[in-house]
Amino acid sequence: MSIQPERTPADLVGAATDSAFEFTFDGRTLTALPGQSIAAALWSAGILSWRTTRVGGRPRGAFCGIGQCYDCLATVNGRPNRRACLVTARPGDAITTQEGHGHAGLDT
Ligand code: FES
Repeated sequence: MSIQPERTPADLVGAATDSAFEFTFDGRTLTALPGQSIAAALWSAGILSWRTTRVGGRPRGAFCGIGQCYDCLATVNGRPNRRACLVTARPGDAITTQEGHGHAGLDT
């Protein structure tokens, strides 16, 4: 009996990914693959939290992963309240941790 080499889903469908690109999270340079959501890219870098709650400042990240819970809100290129599980990462994106409702910087 021979042992089969471990195969990935990409191997099974013959997929080849394009080159990774850079974006930043709280000023830290990270990489993502084309088509990858921001949440997936942050997870790939070992980052599980990118928002704090309005009450208590508790950490939050992706929970449902399908756009329903709004736990994954992040500030993307200065725009708060973007659902990281739905927004595709793009080259040069500047993603920052969102604190509370994300509008503190807009108060006058
Ligand atoms: S993880 Fe639930 S909306 Fe994004």
